[in-house]
Amino acid sequence: MAPSGFLTGTGENASSNVHPFYLHSDQSLIEVTLVAAAVIAPLYLRHKLKEIDMPTVTQTVREIALNQPSSIRVFEEFGIDYCCGGRKPLGVVCAEKEIEIDEVLAALASAAAQTVPVSKDWNKASLKELSDHIVSRHHSYARQELPRLHTLAEKVVKRHGSKHTELPEIQSALKSLDQELTQHLAKEEMVLFPYIAKMEGALVEGKPRPESCFGTVANPVAMMTKEHDAAGALLAKIRELSHNFTLPEDACPTYHGFYDSLKEFERDLHQHIHLENNILFPRAIDMEASIAA
Ligand SMILES: [Fe+2]
Ligand SMILES: [Fe+2]
Repeated sequence: MAPSGFLTGTGENASSNVHPFYLHSDQSLIEVTLVAAAVIAPLYLRHKLKEIDMPTVTQTVREIALNQPSSIRVFEEFGIDYCCGGRKPLGVVCAEKEIEIDEVLAALASAAAQTVPVSKDWNKASLKELSDHIVSRHHSYARQELPRLHTLAEKVVKRHGSKHTELPEIQSALKSLDQELTQHLAKEEMVLFPYIAKMEGALVEGKPRPESCFGTVANPVAMMTKEHDAAGALLAKIRELSHNFTLPEDACPTYHGFYDSLKEFERDLHQHIHLENNILFPRAIDMEASIAA
């Protein structure tokens, strides 16, 4: 019979000649699992941190901003200048501004470690759930990002606009995009999405189709789709003017931040329009057809 007390450090185990990996009881199995977890967890964490390439207090703010684009938002949040004053080490800047360095490092690690959430199958969700998701995630993001993009555009045009003449054109396209989207989001939130939710509620409760001021849902859907095309064309123009967001050699960190943010804005708007054009709108049209007027 094999000895008991494996990995417990008992005298009995210590004096045994039995192979140490020989397991014979549930207790031993639990102990081995705990020890393995204790060994593996720190190794895994170290591996992840290595992947993230963590910034250090001796690196300059500019270096961190260039190596880790997600750090720019963190610096903005803490009011750390990553452009003109970005040549100082992070530790020095934090000391000067009396900011807790540990808080900044933790925020940088968190920003770097953020992963894209697993996408949900929106074909199976209710239309109310989908439109709520669009508003809370994509509309909120657009409203938060547009003023920030304008600020970055203004700085970049002021500093580089005379040499890189495409920048004022990008700024102008961004302004048009803002005007287009601001009205568009309001129309969806105030008219179209509430109607779709009402219609879905009527279907669930077996009630007739709710009344609307626009006739069939296909009408506002056609208008929104046309506006998506206009927004998409402006995004394409920005991408073309920026040569696919290619930075010139003399680009400062603000320039980097501007192009990174434009690229991210484009990515998000594409995802947003996909959810509406390809899922929400066709499903709303089909649903309307299935409800008696
Ligand atoms: Fe939308
Ligand atoms: Fe839309």
